[in-house]
Amino acid sequence: MCGIVGYIGKKNAVDILIDGLKKLEYRGYDSSGIAIVDGTQLIVEKAEGKLQNLQNKIEGLSLYSNMGIGHTRWATHGRPSDANAHPHTSQNGRFAVVHNGIVENYLTLKETYLAGETFTSETDTEVVAHLLEKFYNGNFEQTVVKVLDVLEGAYALVMVCADEPDKIIACRKDSPMVLGVGDEESFVASDVPALLAYTRKCMYIEKGELCVLTKEGIVIKNHDLQPIEKEVHTIEWDAEAAEKDGFEHFMLKEIFEQPEVFKKTLAGRVQQGKVQFDEFTLTKEQISRWKKIYIVACGTAYHAGLVGKQVIEKLVRIPVEVEIASEFRYRDPMLDEDTLVIVISQSGETADTVAALREAKLKGCKVLAITNVVGSAIAREADYVIYIWAGPEISVASTKAYTTMLIAEYLLGVYLAQQKGVGEEAALTAILDGLQQLPDLAAQMLTEDYLAQIQQAVASYRDVNDIFFIGRGLDWSIALEGSLKLKEISYIHAEAYAAGELKHGTLALVTEKTPVVAICVQESTYDKTASNIKEVKAREARVLAIVNEGDNQTQKFVDSVLAIPKVHNFIAPVLAVIPLQLISYYTAKIRGCNIDQPRNLAKSVTVE
Ligand code: AGP
Repeated sequence: MCGIVGYIGKKNAVDILIDGLKKLEYRGYDSSGIAIVDGTQLIVEKAEGKLQNLQNKIEGLSLYSNMGIGHTRWATHGRPSDANAHPHTSQNGRFAVVHNGIVENYLTLKETYLAGETFTSETDTEVVAHLLEKFYNGNFEQTVVKVLDVLEGAYALVMVCADEPDKIIACRKDSPMVLGVGDEESFVASDVPALLAYTRKCMYIEKGELCVLTKEGIVIKNHDLQPIEKEVHTIEWDAEAAEKDGFEHFMLKEIFEQPEVFKKTLAGRVQQGKVQFDEFTLTKEQISRWKKIYIVACGTAYHAGLVGKQVIEKLVRIPVEVEIASEFRYRDPMLDEDTLVIVISQSGETADTVAALREAKLKGCKVLAITNVVGSAIAREADYVIYIWAGPEISVASTKAYTTMLIAEYLLGVYLAQQKGVGEEAALTAILDGLQQLPDLAAQMLTEDYLAQIQQAVASYRDVNDIFFIGRGLDWSIALEGSLKLKEISYIHAEAYAAGELKHGTLALVTEKTPVVAICVQESTYDKTASNIKEVKAREARVLAIVNEGDNQTQKFVDSVLAIPKVHNFIAPVLAVIPLQLISYYTAKIRGCNIDQPRNLAKSVTVE
């Protein structure tokens, strides 16, 4: 939620800030702004709406500075407007601040330190700028420490002071931030894509650390302003991976990247029929201790968890519960040292999932994370990490991260079974063989012809108000993901139902005006799902079915079918969700929706 960027060096900061904000726009896109110091004058420009509005506003202003900060916002306190856009400034106009997170005690701070002052926005962030002015003693660094001492909440803050224009100060607590180390230039940003065009060298910082960026380099200091050593990491993602690369939308590009990223998720993890993770080893004794597993996540990652439950229960025979992270920590779950908690998060920074991870650790559980982002809060705080290696996912609607989360879960399931010594070796080997086929099979699906079939199948969805997705077992898990994807980007109300559950109430809603997408891939439940499809057909719903290649039956009683290549049935969800992703994409497209940046949403949800 919100993207922040800062630059100090020899180039024009304005260009670098705008470029960085473009790369971070997926984090929030309801308003944006920049602040630069020209000489000793602080100049702030902001605009409501997309970043393009800010670009239009500053075009022709000939802004120039070697340092500055920028922000793209996803509103929490105060509606999207010019006034509420960041950067926020102090009353005397000498300090500017950009912020990602929430200052929870901002009302108390106003009353305690800033009574009588005039605020120009409804935001929590503006108090930080005012406090900087209030506490300023001629030393910017000391002043920032004093301000941080009174702040409560979550923040990534980047600040400039017009009286000390040779530095930018950045700090974080529970909100993401990465520092970019350049050659006579320094960068700070919410996420790596903003840095990739300039540097591969980065540093991650912890709560309570103060980063002083100058053009000579970055010095990280502790609370007493003593310098501390930090490891410099190399970013592996390439710059092209964060560009659209000829595709009309990031979402379509990311759907098409799936065959390649499947290879990366699998690479090196299956050796002579055994799964191994570079990141960690678990012994039979460790695994045998776990009597119960919780999978905790949000949104699409939660849907991946629903598949994970079935994978682990079937292969490892340990009971698994899947929980929405925002519910998990508030209901006093029964956790102890004999429980493994698996958290799943593409970004590794989703506030609810981070909070659930911490709750689990407090209760003595081991935490295993499945994530995409190296150095993210979740990656750093978990005991064991499986990276999905999906590369940067920019589209708000998650696609390749979901499918690679599933692959990671299948690998984990087989790994736990092999290490624990449960399950038939041949059955596990068959799953691993199937996983290895996924890159090629996914590539075979993504043809012009297949896309045309999907566009034809969804042409009638342009004006519908409601759509149902149905399936059983693993097919139901991906039905839930298909329905979320459609809601998220096409704004059509969609519901996913366990196919057998429809007749217990929801069937009352099914008419000729409610199309149904039926997933009939799982062979063990095929006959039952077929009966449920006939029930909705009898209510005149138009049915589009996702079927296995070679299925000549289903097409006889539905309106249209989309086939997926034949693969080991247990891992078929990885392929069967691809047509669902494309159904959402093309439906949103014919409805003229903003596919990569759907209304009211942001890629990373760093507020609870
Ligand atoms: C996916 O399409 C969504 N945008 C959303 O549900 C997302 O999966 C959720 O916010 C969790 O994000 P995370 O994986 O980064 O934790």
